[in-house]
Amino acid sequence: MKTQAVILQTLVSFAAASPLVPRQAIDVDLVNSAPDPTLVTVPIGPTADSVNYDLAAATQLAVADPLTVPAATKRDLAARTACEVQPTGAGPVPDVDNDDSFLKFADFSDAATSALVPSGYQQTYTDLQASSIAYGYLGYRTLDSYDTSACAAQCDTITGCSGVNIYFERDPTVEPAADCPNPPSTTVIKCVLWGGYVAAENAKNDGQWRDDFHVVIAGSNGYMKTAVPAVSGFEGESLGNSTINAPNNCLGQNTYMGSKIFSTSIFDPSLCGAACTSQNQYNVAHPPAQGEPMICTFFTTYLMAKNGNSQGQYCAMYTQSWDSSYAVNDGQWRGQDHYTVEYAFSYSNATSSGGPQCSK
Ligand SMILES: *[C@@H]1O[C@H](CO)[C@@H](O)[C@H](O)[C@H]1NC(C)=O
Ligand SMILES: *[C@@H]1O[C@H](CO)[C@@H](O)[C@H](O)[C@H]1NC(C)=O
Repeated sequence: MKTQAVILQTLVSFAAASPLVPRQAIDVDLVNSAPDPTLVTVPIGPTADSVNYDLAAATQLAVADPLTVPAATKRDLAARTACEVQPTGAGPVPDVDNDDSFLKFADFSDAATSALVPSGYQQTYTDLQASSIAYGYLGYRTLDSYDTSACAAQCDTITGCSGVNIYFERDPTVEPAADCPNPPSTTVIKCVLWGGYVAAENAKNDGQWRDDFHVVIAGSNGYMKTAVPAVSGFEGESLGNSTINAPNNCLGQNTYMGSKIFSTSIFDPSLCGAACTSQNQYNVAHPPAQGEPMICTFFTTYLMAKNGNSQGQYCAMYTQSWDSSYAVNDGQWRGQDHYTVEYAFSYSNATSSGGPQCSK
């Protein structure tokens, strides 16, 4: 049986038909109108997995209205044959070969708690018994040892990779089936690459049953790059888990232009940058009856979570730069649903701070 999972279907939803309608509070209707991201569970097993996103197409879609083109496909997974021998992982196997001893095996905890934080990264969690299901799956590699720097080096080679999750996985030595329901195990060391936020809150995949064989996970560590992702033509700043609440400018005018959400690519601030720049072309071509067109010179972008589950990359545009002292909006409630801001950044046009010049 061949599986072909199309990860990306639709890319962008709009706050309103252009021109954007100012409404600075997080636009919950916009978030809910976007297709939910397909949260990928990392495949079980010792082979590698790769996912490619077509960022050029994603950018085209980020600036277009409307859009419908699939932007990435996952490669086909090989068919599994009953009781077929599986590749051997590089990790140690506990003397007593069952799920319980795997989860209690000190070697895994020791490796996780003593691992080096890779250069250019910060640790987001340590020694969990679950792997992350984050936004923007970019595939995984198997490693020869629990080498956090080797894992980060893999991430560094991939455009848009923002974080990694490394862990030990208890996998079957042969494909479990009726004739071999609970085979001996092998320990695979996995390095999973994400174009999103690898956080303890999304370390929710604690394994699965394959026939009578229990796949479990131990020594799971998360790391995120510390650098602010670069966006050509803009200067970026990290805002943590809060976004900007902009006041009116010195003429008493609203500087907020509107928002978009991208829900089926990786987290990539350049998508929002492209939307900002192209919005200006539109606004200049369609000026208001009175006054000047609004020009996007500043944007904030972040992952929006609803009750802890990622809904996509939010993108809010402004006519003027605001510094991080205005980053006080960490989300909002609607009814029982909690919408929260994660992994937020702001970007200012590198050559124009925008806004009116008011004398003090
Ligand atoms: C930001 O949110 C993530 C995910 O909810 C959490 O793991 C992290 O600790 C938060 N960071 C800060 C600085 O609060
Ligand atoms: C920055 O602002 C200038 C002046 O408005 C504009 O010409 C330029 O296109 C903007 N840069 C980007 C990347 O949007």
